[in-house]
Amino acid sequence: MIVAAAAERNKEPILRVLRDYVSPSAAEVRLLEVASGSGQHAVHCARALPNLLWQPSDVDPKCLESISAFIAALRVRNVRPPIFLDSSQSWETWGGMRPNTLDLIVNINMMHISEMRCTEGLFKGAGKLLKPKAILITYGPYAINGQISPQSNVDFDCCLRQRNPAWGLRDTALLQQLAEANGLCLERMVDMPANNKCLIFRKQ
Ligand SMILES: C[S@@+](CC[C@H](N)C(=O)[O-])C[C@H]1O[C@@H](n2cnc3c(N)ncnc32)[C@H](O)[C@@H]1O
Repeated sequence: MIVAAAAERNKEPILRVLRDYVSPSAAEVRLLEVASGSGQHAVHCARALPNLLWQPSDVDPKCLESISAFIAALRVRNVRPPIFLDSSQSWETWGGMRPNTLDLIVNINMMHISEMRCTEGLFKGAGKLLKPKAILITYGPYAINGQISPQSNVDFDCCLRQRNPAWGLRDTALLQQLAEANGLCLERMVDMPANNKCLIFRKQ
């Protein structure tokens, strides 16, 4: 099992945001997580919200193994076996998911540490697979209308771009454009610990 320190720290604050979008009275809330990593968010949130049906995914086989190990170790019944999903590829390759069938898509700490085409694919997929009025939640550090703050996020952005020039903090203005091009709109930005944000996009 992979245990990521950041996921351990942010899983509870992220769950608090998620609760706003999971009605306890709904029989079943179908959620796809893109780039699940270790699987810590999947098991933590799914245990807290039993009417969620959580589909984890990742592009990295080691992450898929870790997610499966977490599901087995904690015996979580409402997390599905993880699927291979490369968000830079068309939604048609995303494990056979059908258009307009998902209530939520969640994506945590992927955008800044992958190529822009991964973010573009995420929005295209969300535009297709979410039901009307359903929600895409993304979490991470962002640039806000061209400005990165505080200095620790500026330094983090430089460090990412040195590692890979195609990585780096994404700008909310650009994400808003991408969202609109795919039939979603940026509805809310939530300040999170450690200078991160949750961005809430709603499909029109
Ligand atoms: C920093 S980790 C975050 C993992 C997890 N969401 C978390 O917060 O602990 C970034 C994740 O993005 C995944 N990833 C990178 N490129 C991807 C892609 N094209 N499609 C899907 N996942 C991708 C990596 O395999 C990795 O698990």
